[in-house]
Amino acid sequence: KRFVILISGRGSNMQAIVNMAKKRDDIHIAAVISHKPNSVGLVWAKEQGIETAELLHKSYPTRESYDEALRDLVLSYQADYVILAGFMRILTEVFIEPFKGRLINIHPSLLPSFTGLDTHERAIVEGVKVHGCTVHFVTPVLDVGPIIAQAIVPVHKKDDADTLAARVLTMEHQVYPAVVDYLAQDLLSLHNQQVEYKKPVT
Ligand code: GRF
Repeated sequence: KRFVILISGRGSNMQAIVNMAKKRDDIHIAAVISHKPNSVGLVWAKEQGIETAELLHKSYPTRESYDEALRDLVLSYQADYVILAGFMRILTEVFIEPFKGRLINIHPSLLPSFTGLDTHERAIVEGVKVHGCTVHFVTPVLDVGPIIAQAIVPVHKKDDADTLAARVLTMEHQVYPAVVDYLAQDLLSLHNQQVEYKKPVT
């Protein structure tokens, strides 16, 4: 299966996925794309010999015109799945529609709690005792969409947003490659807005 990964900067989730894919001949990372100039993640991907592209949102007058260009670029790589890995841009219908059931995101909270930004800070303010991350299919509503997998971490009394983010991130690096592995093996798919598994995600 062919995967295109979209990032915004650091790309540590992308790196975890690429490192997993290296051991597999049924997973091909067709391209890594960033919407920001000089992303650390893009430099790393290039060093790994992966095709990379920068499509800078600043060069487009409207969100739709950018999303159209991004859609066409991603389509040119003939991806089976599009993986949003720390891609910090809201995508419109124009992009989402052609990749229905093939577009996946990771969000750093246990959805439906804490959609949007600053999830770790908000989790601490709310005093929740567990927190985590969610991998889900993308639908046009932000951070909503059929949940594929979640990973849970404890919130400790001494945590600040950074220590909590780091704990969640180590789980993100496990759960996202695991989901990509399942997709590559056709073990999960989206039908009528429901996730169907041939085998539970562990
Ligand atoms: C991750 O925590 C992801 O869940 C969030 O942004 C962060 C991106 O990190 N959306 P990276 O770019 O994968 O290192």
